[in-house]
Amino acid sequence: MTVLVTGGAGYIGSHMVLALRDAGERVVVLDNLSTGFRWAVPDDVPLIVGDFGDGDLVTEMLKRYQIESIIHFAAKIVVPESVADPLGYYLNNTAKARQLIECAVGAGVGQFIFSSTAAVYGDPEQNPVTEDETLKPMSPYGRSKLMVEWMLQDVAKAHPLRYAVLRYFNVAGADPQGRSGQSTPNATHLIKVAVQAALGHRNGMDVFGTDYPTPDGSCVRDYIQVSDLAQAHLDALNYLREGGESITCNCGYSRGFSVLEVIAVVKSVSGVDFPVRISGRRPGDPSAIVAGNARIKSALNWQPRYDDLKLIVDQALNWERRLHNRKAG
Ligand code: UFG
Repeated sequence: MTVLVTGGAGYIGSHMVLALRDAGERVVVLDNLSTGFRWAVPDDVPLIVGDFGDGDLVTEMLKRYQIESIIHFAAKIVVPESVADPLGYYLNNTAKARQLIECAVGAGVGQFIFSSTAAVYGDPEQNPVTEDETLKPMSPYGRSKLMVEWMLQDVAKAHPLRYAVLRYFNVAGADPQGRSGQSTPNATHLIKVAVQAALGHRNGMDVFGTDYPTPDGSCVRDYIQVSDLAQAHLDALNYLREGGESITCNCGYSRGFSVLEVIAVVKSVSGVDFPVRISGRRPGDPSAIVAGNARIKSALNWQPRYDDLKLIVDQALNWERRLHNRKAG
């Protein structure tokens, strides 16, 4: 029972590979290393460097490794980039995913777990947002993911494949054992940026808007620790293996923090009072989005272990130090 992880050399995918390996699962990684790193894949896990949209390669891999389940992370994930390059996003995130799903169906893969996003909700009318909320993605990125959700729904009706769609909220933190973390150069994510400012790797940071209709005026997000997110996939895999119906679940803690609150936690955990500039709104940011997580807790019995913003920030700080030393060394 081997699991194929696409994008397994990337931030979330590498934590997934660690979680599968720690659970004693056989795992194979397919990654084109466009944003992932060879070092992020443990030496005893086969890494095939290639494109998940390459049907011949994928079909050959599915056969050779007798893959029964696919966890599909590989994707482009930068919202403003998707606005500038929608066709690139629809090619990579949608068209190539279609190709991957076709290969999965052809090879009789039983379970398909798909990385979706809170971006499918756009700016929700109410929070916490449940999976049944109207879907109104505001970017090509969100739409590129939503179209794959739709494909999976249709495919699961026509073929034996069952799926779990996991809609991630804001993923942060690092492996508690320090084996992996967010390593993308020029990452734009809030906790990563704030941690870099705290460590002096960048000259302070900007807050994009303090005039939102939120308690302190800055945007509110639900920050989920990356190993807890990987655990959600393991739980989804076990659920599907035990015969569970195809399912769509939010992944978050159902608790929101504002940008200003996050920055205050980074300052207090790091002990550094770095410069913070108040800037204008970043186009396309919803004011607040927080996960309703009743479904993932009840259906998948997901039990998060790191629901603590200080701990998440501490992990991110430790990882950033490690990454910096690695580059310096
Ligand atoms: N922010 C700042 N300053 C920064 C970076 C971010 O103020 O330097 C703010 C943003 O404006 C936003 C909040 O911090 O209000 C969080 O921003 P991130 O870039 O960390 O994350 P997003 O909420 O924009 O994006 C996340 C995922 C996307 C997904 C989106 C769905 O990373 O993949 O949620 O809403 F599409």
